[in-house]
Amino acid sequence: MAFLQGVKLAFTILALATPSWAIGVAPGQIQNFVTFGDSYTDSSYYPSADGGYSWPTWAAMYGDLDLYGFARSGATCSNLLTYRPFPPIMGWQFPAYLNETRNGTLELNSNETIYTIWIGTNDLGVNALLTGSDAPTTSIVQVRQCAVDVLNMLYESGARNFIMQNILPLDLTILYSNYSYPNTYWNLERNTTGWNVHMTELVRAGNEITSLKLDALLPTLPDAHIASFDSYGLFTDMYNNPQNYFNGTAPYNVTGCIHSCVYSIDSTAAPACTITNGTDADSFMWYDELHPSQQSARILARELTAVMMGEDNQWTTWLS
Ligand SMILES: *[C@@H]1O[C@H](CO)[C@@H](O)[C@H](O)[C@H]1NC(C)=O
Ligand SMILES: *[C@@H]1O[C@H](CO)[C@@H](O)[C@H](O)[C@H]1NC(C)=O
Ligand SMILES: *[C@@H]1O[C@H](CO)[C@@H](O)[C@H](O)[C@H]1NC(C)=O
Ligand SMILES: *[C@@H]1O[C@H](CO)[C@@H](O)[C@H](O)[C@H]1NC(C)=O
Ligand SMILES: *[C@@H]1O[C@H](CO)[C@@H](O)[C@H](O)[C@H]1NC(C)=O
Ligand SMILES: *[C@@H]1O[C@H](CO)[C@@H](O)[C@H](O)[C@H]1NC(C)=O
Ligand SMILES: *[C@@H]1O[C@H](CO)[C@@H](O)[C@H](O)[C@H]1NC(C)=O
Ligand SMILES: *[C@@H]1O[C@H](CO)[C@@H](O)[C@H](O)[C@H]1NC(C)=O
Repeated sequence: MAFLQGVKLAFTILALATPSWAIGVAPGQIQNFVTFGDSYTDSSYYPSADGGYSWPTWAAMYGDLDLYGFARSGATCSNLLTYRPFPPIMGWQFPAYLNETRNGTLELNSNETIYTIWIGTNDLGVNALLTGSDAPTTSIVQVRQCAVDVLNMLYESGARNFIMQNILPLDLTILYSNYSYPNTYWNLERNTTGWNVHMTELVRAGNEITSLKLDALLPTLPDAHIASFDSYGLFTDMYNNPQNYFNGTAPYNVTGCIHSCVYSIDSTAAPACTITNGTDADSFMWYDELHPSQQSARILARELTAVMMGEDNQWTTWLS
């Protein structure tokens, strides 16, 4: 009895001290989150690329958290690997964050702050890995090493809590589907079946590479708490079981989009757009040919808020 009470007491003391070896974050610990990524996460303008609020804006509301959004539309991990004329994590987002931390604009307590990294959409896509156009020497391996490097650099600058979001099934977006049509992101001739097959491989390989590289990095990051968030699994489940996620007034729609514009091949003629309005929109998984809808963003925000609040989450594995 006395022994058991002693054990209990020991556990209570350990729990109060929130030991550094504990896995994950404790409920109530996280007050702030800082985002790095692309248009899927960019909260710096409205309406965002998903036609409303981006997931971080919803998450900040759901969890009553302070949001510091460095993610920017069009971004890749590094423009040295896959060049696009937008602010990448390596060349702009991370430097801007560091500047603000060092010059006193941002003062974040590292144990109350979590850092989210969601990158890959543009690195893998058109005008980058998929088409090879301006990345002839870069492979999926370097691009995913870059994502892991971002986490490592944040750690070295003092960050301790992280959510690494893997790449969603881009092959399920309209842009990369085999039934795609010429759209605002690509209106040149292409083989949609070939693109779909290639993108499916890039995403699955990219996610596995990231996971393996992250596992290898873990032993070098003492006191870090890293959540691996399975965006791939969540969005695949939305696609397969829309009835569990979508609540609009139209039939479930995971293959079309709210803001659909069909272009003519190689032409500057005005596209033919079909736009869904009002409560019908919440039946859709995609906002346009590449971006998740508002309802998808809310679902994602709900799941990520749970992670930040220290709650159990079906799509999350705490690695440390
Ligand atoms: C960071 O600060 C350096 C030095 O002041 C400046 O040259 C650079 O442009 C800043 N970077 C960003 C992204 O604000
Ligand atoms: C701090 O750095 C950021 C990013 O470079 C810059 O925009 C801001 O003006 C700087 N603030 C001060 C007080 O130097
Ligand atoms: C977080 O850091 C602050 C200041 O360093 C400290 O007072 C607090 O106890 C820490 N919280 C946890 C959960 O470790
Ligand atoms: C797309 O791929 C699916 C699954 O392989 C196939 O059933 C479907 O017929 C294809 N559609 C087109 C337009 O090629
Ligand atoms: C399109 O790509 C698929 C898959 O790589 C291939 O089987 C098919 O022959 C290609 N079609 C054309 C017209 O090149
Ligand atoms: C999904 O939405 C698109 C675009 O509005 C439409 O063309 C398509 O018929 C819809 N599909 C279903 C199954 O309702
Ligand atoms: C939705 O609103 C847009 C812009 O007001 C309009 O062009 C479009 O026809 C509307 N869609 C439907 C299905 O009523
Ligand atoms: C669907 O559910 C979300 C919460 O996930 C809510 O914000 C939204 O208003 C709902 N949409 C409709 C059309 O009821």
